[in-house]
Amino acid sequence: MTATPETRFRSSQLEDNDGPPVNPTDNRTMGEIIAARFSRRGFLMGSLAVSAIAATVSPLALIAADEARAAEASAFKFDELEAGIDDKHHVAPGYDADVLLRWGDPLFADSPEFDPLKQSAEAQARQFGYNNDYVGYIPIDGSAEHGLLVVNHEYTNPHLMFPGIVSIVEKDGKKAAEVAPLSKEQVDVEMAAHGGTIVEIRKQDGKWQVVRDGKLNRRIMSTTEMALSGPVAGHDRVKTNADPSGAKVIGTVNNCAGGVTPWGTYVMAEENIHGYFSGELPEGHKEAANYKRLGIPEGAYEWGAHYDRFNLAKEPNEPNRFGWIVEVDVNDPASVPRKRTAMGRFKHEGAESIVARDGRVVFYLGDDERFDYVYKFVTAGKFNADDRAANMNLLDDGTLYVAKFAEDGSVEWMPIVFGQGPLTAKNGFASQADVLIETRRAADLLGATKMDRPEDIQPNAGNGKVYVMLTNNSKRKADQVDAANPRAENAFGHIIEIVEDGGDFAGTKGKWEVLLKCGDPSVANVGATFSTATTAHGWFGMPDNCAVDSAGRLWVATDGQGPKATGRTDGLWAVDTEGAARATSKLFFRVPIGAEMCGPLFAPDDQTAFVAVQHPGDGGEDWEGFGRPSYYEDPSTRWPDFKPDMPVRPSVVAITKQGGGKIAV
Ligand code: FEO
Ligand code: CA
Ligand code: CA
Ligand code: CA
Repeated sequence: MTATPETRFRSSQLEDNDGPPVNPTDNRTMGEIIAARFSRRGFLMGSLAVSAIAATVSPLALIAADEARAAEASAFKFDELEAGIDDKHHVAPGYDADVLLRWGDPLFADSPEFDPLKQSAEAQARQFGYNNDYVGYIPIDGSAEHGLLVVNHEYTNPHLMFPGIVSIVEKDGKKAAEVAPLSKEQVDVEMAAHGGTIVEIRKQDGKWQVVRDGKLNRRIMSTTEMALSGPVAGHDRVKTNADPSGAKVIGTVNNCAGGVTPWGTYVMAEENIHGYFSGELPEGHKEAANYKRLGIPEGAYEWGAHYDRFNLAKEPNEPNRFGWIVEVDVNDPASVPRKRTAMGRFKHEGAESIVARDGRVVFYLGDDERFDYVYKFVTAGKFNADDRAANMNLLDDGTLYVAKFAEDGSVEWMPIVFGQGPLTAKNGFASQADVLIETRRAADLLGATKMDRPEDIQPNAGNGKVYVMLTNNSKRKADQVDAANPRAENAFGHIIEIVEDGGDFAGTKGKWEVLLKCGDPSVANVGATFSTATTAHGWFGMPDNCAVDSAGRLWVATDGQGPKATGRTDGLWAVDTEGAARATSKLFFRVPIGAEMCGPLFAPDDQTAFVAVQHPGDGGEDWEGFGRPSYYEDPSTRWPDFKPDMPVRPSVVAITKQGGGKIAV
């Protein structure tokens, strides 16, 4: 099977999900286009400006006063890092950013040391995987300095992983990289490099160490046996030749963000599942429309050439077994991970949760595609803090909701329940299993609001708010603008803040507001809304992952900046959300060329920020410091080792304050 560099490179998720939109419905948000152009915050700022002029205060003086107030009011105390582009990582002055886990690092006593020239699936299965994304921390005995780090490995970049597979050719007068087809052995390495890692870590003398051979250390891979559980388990649409039970799946793929549940399990989101499938469905197959809605098959990976389950011609039902939230019991390394089908099937970004007042648990879920939706799942049962075992099947029973954002600043959570509204036999649904397998179509029929690529969604227990990262949507046209997606050709994304009515996370109604429209605020037609106290280093574009620290402060990680887009690499920004400093942003950490910023995660004592540097060295043509295709033999950076015989390696970094103490205090 040959593949073009375009599909084979699987560059950033920005490109993956910035492909052709696959939502065919015209669920436009309601309301007048003109009114929708301005967020309520925009109106507010406008009216303040008018009153300022009326009071005959010089606008410049007003801005200066605002800046001083915002800086004073900021919840973050650190000296800002300068934005820029180079081949290294950088952190704010006074902090250390130490590499903790690199692709290929041994996790077990018997793990072979990383040898990139002799990498095998067997070795990879005992080592830290590729392209670290979500990072979670599960304390051991309640400790902030000893726990399990859980890390997703979202996808693989063969051109940076394997020697000897790239040739440089002339294409349209420019140098371009051509990637040779992978061998079966290389595909097997890819499958072992996907999934997740569970690894014990401990802080000693102020520095984090990996506990090699910790008794709970484990690799989850695309070859790990899993169970389908919940309403879809055993349904005809998930039965295959290899699994007539419809309840036993081999592997997980494209684990992007995720979460740690209140009962201490690790949840992994399956995001861009379409890339792994190839081949053609049998003529007239009943899943054709279902798969089209998810862009299946994309054929970006060659797995289908070697494994029937990724070949639609041979196993036409297999894609219905992917696109779920996977739950892993980290306390038992032999436990079978469970795909929790009650939480819906789409391009799941993350699964951050909070316990509602009545004890039910609420998971906020984004479907990362242009014009797709924001969801939440509310468990039917209640969290039992005194009995971990009692919570182990909470995720099999509950209600999935999809969000409709109204122009008046209200949000309605619409239940996705078979038999209710349009979710009936008339529209081809015979059961809740059907509704869940085609979650996107069910949400289309309910008239959900089409969003600008929902990524991480983070509830904040401190102030009751929920932050929604909307990364970008270059395809939104002027006549598709609405209040919750207020910019056409939204290149830089925005952040929405939701407050559930009565502070009830399990409720079905709330209010929302745009916290921030991203991009360069010095370019008027970008329409960014950072506070005037935000410096030239402090603004960012493409919010993707986020974290709330234990002080309730918001930290935003980005995906898709770079030389052309914003003239700065991705990184981690501290974003004020309250009071006079609201919408002030400061740069804390930035990644090397080609990388995106994943994680981020604060240790429970706020003394460490864990960040995941994903796909470093993927690209470099546009950077004047490199200016040519980047690949294994000639990467745009050899971060983090900078040794001539070591490839660039995605890695998790632990950031601590020099001399100790809480971060940004
Ligand atoms: Fe894997 Fe939506 O980022
Ligand atoms: Ca992304
Ligand atoms: Ca992401
Ligand atoms: Ca998060």
